[in-house]
Parts: sequence; structure tokens; C-alpha cells
Amino acid sequence: MSIPTLPIALPDLPVATVREIAHFDGQRVQIRGWLYGRRSKGKLHFLQIRDGSGLIQAVMSRADVDEETFARADRLTQETSLIVTGTVRADARAPSGFELSCDGLEIVSLAAPDYPISPKDHGTAFLMDHRHLWIRSRRQHAILKVRARIVKSIRDFFDNQGFTLLDTPIFTPNACEGTSTLFETDYHGQKAYLSQSGQLYNEANAMAFGKVYTFGPTFRAEKSKTRRHLTEFWMVEPEAAYMDLKGTMDLAEDLVCTIAREVLADCGPELDTIDTIRSEAEEQRQLKPRREALAAIQKPFVRMDYGDAVKRLQELGSDIQFGDDLGGDDETILTQQYDRPMLVNRYPSEIKAFYMKKDASDPVRSLSVDMLAPEGYGEIIGGGQREDDYDTLVAAIQKHGLPMTAFDWYLDLRKYGSVPHAGFGLGLERTVAWVCGLPHVRETIPFARLMDRLSP
Ligand code: 4AD
Ligand code: MG
Repeated sequence: MSIPTLPIALPDLPVATVREIAHFDGQRVQIRGWLYGRRSKGKLHFLQIRDGSGLIQAVMSRADVDEETFARADRLTQETSLIVTGTVRADARAPSGFELSCDGLEIVSLAAPDYPISPKDHGTAFLMDHRHLWIRSRRQHAILKVRARIVKSIRDFFDNQGFTLLDTPIFTPNACEGTSTLFETDYHGQKAYLSQSGQLYNEANAMAFGKVYTFGPTFRAEKSKTRRHLTEFWMVEPEAAYMDLKGTMDLAEDLVCTIAREVLADCGPELDTIDTIRSEAEEQRQLKPRREALAAIQKPFVRMDYGDAVKRLQELGSDIQFGDDLGGDDETILTQQYDRPMLVNRYPSEIKAFYMKKDASDPVRSLSVDMLAPEGYGEIIGGGQREDDYDTLVAAIQKHGLPMTAFDWYLDLRKYGSVPHAGFGLGLERTVAWVCGLPHVRETIPFARLMDRLSP
């Protein structure tokens, strides 16, 4: 990495990152970061330093530095950017396993003394207003690290299985998931909508490449303020030619098992951090520690026919009737019964999107599936087999009152070499919320877009 111009003389020492601190055991190094916290006791300063990769304590003893340096440490305000030098020492009590015996300190920029985020309890609105600073906090940092790891798992999973990554457009001329949640924009005098899902284009890509996936931001003008809804969220959508409903369920199951296994293997410390920093309201939910919860994510998942799910919900006290969609509360009480995800399948066509293939063995049903995450989390995946018959699809587009001309190209896929095909969409933020055991999706993305929030 090239060295930026800083208002100080840079020490001529190797730059250690906290994440890789073990490689520097016993060596004199520099650490470049920010002051996370400070305690001072007589002839000692304990400086908590974060460098973006982790948190380490630097201990400065009066005996090891000149008077001016020791006094400088006394003036450090929270979030001051600084460079410390010292010797890395193993310390079993330290969270990173190491401490720095500090012998030098340079201030890069002294932070204003009124850093707004302190260890005391702040309200959610306050924290969301200061999200640009909140993401520096330990718990938020851990959550976003888990998010990044999940993204990597997803990409590796599909790349390793021969899926080709193909991006789909964000400006679209028509709806994919119903017309009630469209964000409309002006596209050089023509109406355009922000994409709700890349699926329709993905189907075209699958007819050209066999197995494809798209992974990008999707948009829904959700009018609901719930713990599960963002207006901008990230979705990974695999689509495969010659795949059926069962193949889709198998693929979804494998993907989610892989995510759970890899997060568990690589993000143990992050999961522990999240578990130790929970609000009182969160504690009351009595979720399992996340390592334990993820270890339980093993095949086979519970596969349940929609009709059986309705019966089970009625037994659990829901007033749901056959033909109704599962509401948020239904998903909560149903999935509280399980410690691994469920694949609820064959929903009635009436409550699913126009493109769902009709079930040949039962005309009211569609070849659809939702994956519901356990412990009350609910839907993280929606998908199924697509209607591949030209005439049936034309009838479905008409029935849903959608403009036929917008679907000319989509119908071509049924005209020129139609094959059975299927796929699904996994919502990244809902998956992160479940994996981390969070009460709301707003903490799962650096800058959440919610019905009532567009800033920072
Ligand atoms: O169930 P949905 O609407 O399915 C589709 O969009 C399909 N076209 C996907 C496909 O088959 N290729 O959305 C898929 C997933 C949901 O299960 C959920 O995890 C997430 O996207 N999702 C949201 N996440 C956050 N905020 C919202 N407003 C969401 N709406 C859907
Ligand atoms: Mg859905």
C-alpha cells in the first residue's frame, strides 16, 4: 500500500494490522488507526485502538516514553486518528490474544471532544441518524463483517457449481413482483421502474448460459415499517434451465447450509461479539447463541406442503384459511417451532406472481417455494419453477392485468426453445439478520433505506 501524505513524520517500522497481529509477535511495529477508548491510571495509559481490522490495547508506561508523549496520550479524545509504535506481546487475556507495549504516539487528527456515540444506551433513531459513525462500533463492525463473509460464500457457492454471474438491469420498463411496490422514475420522458428482481432477465440469461445468477440491489416501494422490510435490498438470484421445483429446493438448501458452515468457520469472534452486545429487548427474545444456532443448520430442512403449513398454523392459533398468504406473524409462530429452515411449497397460484408454473396435479396450486428461517425469522427465500408454456403464460399475464407488450421479449423465451426452468431469490439482509440474530434488518447493511429513511 502506498503511504499517504500525513501531517506527521511516519515511523520507519512495519505496519501491523490487528487481524494479522499474530504474525508480528515480539516485533516492533506501527499500528495506524483511531482511538476507540482510553483508561489512564497513574503511570499507565491503556489505549484501545481500532484499525478497521480489529481492536487492540496499547499500554503506554511513563517509563517507556518521554514526558511530552505521555502528556499527549492524556489529551486523546475518542476517535482521534493516530499512529502508535511499540512491541507486540502475546497476552492470553486480550481479545485478540495480543497487546502492544507502546513506545511512541503520533496524533494524525485530534477528534472534536463531542463524539456523539458513547457506551451509554442511545435510541435507535439517534443511532440511525449517526449511522456514518455508528458503523465504527464493535457490534456494527462485526455484523457488517458477517455480511461480507456471507456475500463471499454466496459467490463462491455459485461460481464453484458452474453458474455464470450475469448482471441484470436496474432500470426496467415493467413490474416483476406486482405493481404495488414499484419505484417510478422518469427515463428521458418514458416511465421506468427500479428493478424489484432480476428474475425475468435471468430467465433469458439461463436460456443462453444454462446456469446463471445475478446479485445486486433491488428496490421495493414498501409501505410497511416492519423489521423485515427495506426499500433497497440485495438479492442473489440463481436460475437454471432444466431445473424443477425439487431441484430449486435442493439448491436453496445447499446454499444456506454452505453459508451457515462458512460463517461459523470464519466469523466465530464476530458472532461472539454480537452475542455479547445485545440490548435488553434482544436479550428477552432468548435466542440461541449464534454459534449454536448455525451449527444446527444441517440437511434435511423441513419440507412442508402449503396446505399442511396452514393446518399447522391453525393448530398454533392462527386464523389463517386455505388460500391466504402467510402473514408475518404466521411465519413467526411457525418457524419458532424449528431450529432449522423450512421449505414451504406449492402455494396457491392466486397468491403468487404471474410467472409461477401451475402444478399439473392440482390446478389451484403453483410450483412455488419459500424458505423460512427458524427461530421466528421467517421468509429469506422466494422462488419456484417458472411457467414455460406460451399460452398458459399469456393467460397469466392477462389475468394479472399486466401490459402484454412489455412482455414480448419474455414470451419469446417460450417460443424459441422453451424448457422447464426454475430459480429463486435470497434476500441478503434478511439472511444476515437471521444469521446474526438481529431484531431488525436496518443493522445488516451499511446505510439502510427504509420507508421513512433516506439519510445519511
Ligand atoms: O419473494 P420475492 O419477492 O421473490 C422474488 O423477487 C423472485 N422474483 C425471486 C426469484 O425467484 N428470482 O423476494 C425474494 C426475497 C425474499 O424472500 C426476501 O428475502 C427478500 O427477497 N425481500 C426483501 N428483503 C428486504 N426488504 C424487502 N422489502 C424485501 N422484499 C423481498
Ligand atoms: Mg416472497
